[in-house]
Amino acid sequence: MSRTIKVHLLLLAVAVLLSLPFYGFRWHLTLHILAAIVFMGGLVSSMLWMALAHRNGEASIVTFAANATRKAGLILVAPAAVLALLNGLMMAADRWGGWGGFHEQRWIEFGLALFVLAIVLWGAFVHRYTVKLVRAGATAEDGPICPEAQSVLKRWYFWSGLVLVLSVVILYLMVVKP
Ligand code: HEM
Repeated sequence: MSRTIKVHLLLLAVAVLLSLPFYGFRWHLTLHILAAIVFMGGLVSSMLWMALAHRNGEASIVTFAANATRKAGLILVAPAAVLALLNGLMMAADRWGGWGGFHEQRWIEFGLALFVLAIVLWGAFVHRYTVKLVRAGATAEDGPICPEAQSVLKRWYFWSGLVLVLSVVILYLMVVKP
């Protein structure tokens, strides 16, 4: 098992431990907002450095950016998603109607559904395409990006953008609580 995967699993476990229902509402709110910042920040910065690498046009630079994106996904985005999700559920239980609290409030229910969708899309497309780019780069020769990697990149931008848009919609629901 690689070091990144070990750190990833460790951080997932830490995220679960930090979300247990012992610490009180303020703790959960602080961690929830921190996790939301890291989750969205991880997405935005990955999109930025991938775009910069893409613009450069060199296959080796795109592979480097894809590798960094893969690591940021495992070490930042995924643990932050777990932290945001669990602390969100703790707050719903604490303040918004008990353990079924997310059913009581439409904004929490929609937020939860959209977030689960965002996490699934991130894992099924964004992260999968990132790994594909890393693998393609490992066997590719030096020089410009090949057409296959170009098409993977296009799909990567699309799904990353969609996950980001969903996150912004959730952020709006969280703040406005309609
Ligand atoms: C991208 C995902 C998410 C983002 C960016 C986000 C963001 C935020 C922010 C900024 C707040 C503070 C709002 C305020 O204090 O007025 C908040 C509060 C909250 N969020 Fe989320 N959130 C996300 C996902 C979720 C999910 C999935 C749930 C449900 C499981 C959830 C449940 C809650 C609850 C219950 C509060 C507490 C509101 C309160 O009582 O003040 N959030 N969220």
